[in-house]
Amino acid sequence: MKHFTSISDVDNLDQLVQEALLFKQNPHQPNIATGKKVGLVFLNPSLRTRLSAQIAAQNLGAEAIVLDIGKDGWALEFEDGVVMNGNKAEHIREAAGVMGKYFDVLGIRTFPGLEDRALDYAEDLLNAFLKYAGIPIVSLESATRHPLQSLADLVTIKEQWSENRKPKVVLTWAPHVKALPQAVANSFLEWMQVADVDLSITNPVGYDLSLEFRKELPVFHDQVEALKDADFVYVKNWSSYEDYGQVLSQDSSWTMSNEHLALTNNAKVMHCLPVRRGLVIKDEVLDGPNAIHLEQAENRVFAAQAVLNELLK
Ligand code: CP
Repeated sequence: MKHFTSISDVDNLDQLVQEALLFKQNPHQPNIATGKKVGLVFLNPSLRTRLSAQIAAQNLGAEAIVLDIGKDGWALEFEDGVVMNGNKAEHIREAAGVMGKYFDVLGIRTFPGLEDRALDYAEDLLNAFLKYAGIPIVSLESATRHPLQSLADLVTIKEQWSENRKPKVVLTWAPHVKALPQAVANSFLEWMQVADVDLSITNPVGYDLSLEFRKELPVFHDQVEALKDADFVYVKNWSSYEDYGQVLSQDSSWTMSNEHLALTNNAKVMHCLPVRRGLVIKDEVLDGPNAIHLEQAENRVFAAQAVLNELLK
């Protein structure tokens, strides 16, 4: 594996999942990456990704250095050929190039602007780091994907599922007051389509995800119909892809509740976090026996550890 920015960077998915599960059993293996340095660059907020990547690096014996580039770094220019006489002090060519000299692996978090769909889906910023850093790049969530989250999601499903059949996995939209990226949902679809699961999506009209990610998957606009007999329900809000970046609905009937859960096959309920209680998922579900969001978050460490192991070894 040269980089980790999407499922297509993964050479052997089963092996990566198994590695994460093995690291969970025996996380402290400091001989693997002694003396290596991992840069973690954040243009946006994070709790889980930041902490889990730091712990993962530490478990492997590497040193992780976090840079909140928006707050602590120089304002970056991403356009080529411009005369930098405005308020941007440093070009991405130098910033990424320098970080490439300091680190062995570089992680980047960069959210979409949610105003210009073509611009966001072009992933210019992530691609600039890929182009100019000259070292392995890990997406810590980009404009369109969150592969470290998806790997942890897959690891969680694998460890929770023991029946001798494919689990029925439903990705359901839930309401939110803010316009959120489609990255977690896109990525979940991308990863689950190569996993051994029976996957479908449910969302209100106007919230269909990009065809690039949902491909031929069934999309239900009736959540009740979609949730029937589900074994795993992945709850997530995303803003509209069609009416790009817009909040078209705040319909609270889509908030995951025990009533929804009763439609399922006693489904495990997943969420990447942060979750707005009562709005996205009701307390009765988050505090109930079916919720596995904390297990998912725990598995973020071992997913990151498996990825860093592949890139640093
Ligand atoms: N799920 C996730 O990526 O959480 P953070 O935004 O807190 O990193």
